[in-house]
Amino acid sequence: MKVLVVGGGGREHAIVWKIAQSPKVDKIYCAPGNAGIAELAECVPIGAMEFDKLVAFAKEKEIDLTVIGMDDPLVGGVVDAFETAGLRVFGPRKNAAILEGSKAFSKDLMKKYHIPTAAYETFTSAEEALAYLETAPMPTVLKADGLALGKGVLICNTLEEAKEGVKTLMLDKQFGTAGDKIVIEEFMTGREVSVLSFVDGNTIRIMTSAQDHKRALDGDQGLNTGGMGTFSPSPFYTPEVDAFCKKYIYQATVDAMKAEGREFKGIIFFGLMLTEKGPKVLEYNARFGDPETQVVLPRMNNDIVEIFEACIDGTLDQYTLDFEDNAAVCVVLASDGYPVKYDKGYPIEGLDRFKDNDGYYCFHAGSKFDGDGQIITNGGRVLGITATGSDLKEARKNAYAATEWVSFANKYMRHDIGKAIDEA
Ligand code: AMP
Ligand code: GLY
Repeated sequence: MKVLVVGGGGREHAIVWKIAQSPKVDKIYCAPGNAGIAELAECVPIGAMEFDKLVAFAKEKEIDLTVIGMDDPLVGGVVDAFETAGLRVFGPRKNAAILEGSKAFSKDLMKKYHIPTAAYETFTSAEEALAYLETAPMPTVLKADGLALGKGVLICNTLEEAKEGVKTLMLDKQFGTAGDKIVIEEFMTGREVSVLSFVDGNTIRIMTSAQDHKRALDGDQGLNTGGMGTFSPSPFYTPEVDAFCKKYIYQATVDAMKAEGREFKGIIFFGLMLTEKGPKVLEYNARFGDPETQVVLPRMNNDIVEIFEACIDGTLDQYTLDFEDNAAVCVVLASDGYPVKYDKGYPIEGLDRFKDNDGYYCFHAGSKFDGDGQIITNGGRVLGITATGSDLKEARKNAYAATEWVSFANKYMRHDIGKAIDEA
């Protein structure tokens, strides 16, 4: 089989690495890919939003399966474009990717189908949003309706902050049209857990749990980022939590989408908050998490290509997922200054050491080749260093040891990824 993966971050590197394990696969392409992915796949310089070029490429190379890693193309309808051209593709169509593409849609869906989530109101007028805030309990949470690079959520402690937030989202339009509509929702407290799943329209199969660290600085301080590290499994995701989510959240979401005429095939990523009143949905994503994928896939024993195909064919009920009874930790090596301002273009040294060390992985997020074939930094998040271990403590020790193998100027990381697990 020939497979094309669309995207070029750490998540896509992990997906490409996992696809490369499949005995069914002879050749992998990645658009646009990065310097790490280039070891396993032929990278082609086509952007993830260039649907016509992607479709033409897939036809020309007779690609058997295309896997979409990123949210923007999914929400924009890349799957529809491939299907219209008669090509096999893994991911939700545009009318289902709205589960991630519109927060108002997903909140309304949860309300209609009684799926546990925070109480909320939706606004298209800044004036009405401001009037509502006058009597809303604080803290409160403002969310831009559309995609905003994961930055469209504002936690506001005071009325003044919340008013400022409405201005940022709706009047200053910091996230463009994503802020034309906003959701104002109840502030919840508790542990956060990410649960990824495969869905074939009817059947849902849950992967192992993970937890992300979104803030830039140790102790969950500083600005929100795309994710500074992850661990899997989450010790807070107990059998009781799993049973509750299976009963009230997972299948209910798949069934709700079907009932709305928006059959969902692909990955549903459940962002959960474990509140005192039980698990509630914080958000849905319609794709693999980044960097959750970098700790989940190294623990998965299945042939992922078989599972992708089962989702497309509607035969997922014939498969069970199998995860290693171990743990994984991923520490992101970023460029100092991320997520605001940082330099790039520095040589990365020490990558070879990952080649002959089982259980250690270096997933590239922002890297490229300079003119001389040297791999250099090319983004805020540069590498995701993942290691497995028999338990989370060991995985954490291994991952941090491996962060020392690589060096580049401006290397920055958090030192407390997975530390919460010591309190469990
Ligand atoms: P989201 O993009 O919806 O996952 O939101 C980003 C982050 O904001 C989440 O991972 C939470 O840490 C936080 N968050 C979102 N909604 C709420 C809420 N209702 N209460 C408390 N924190 C929230
Ligand atoms: N790690 C969070 C996300 O992928 O949205």
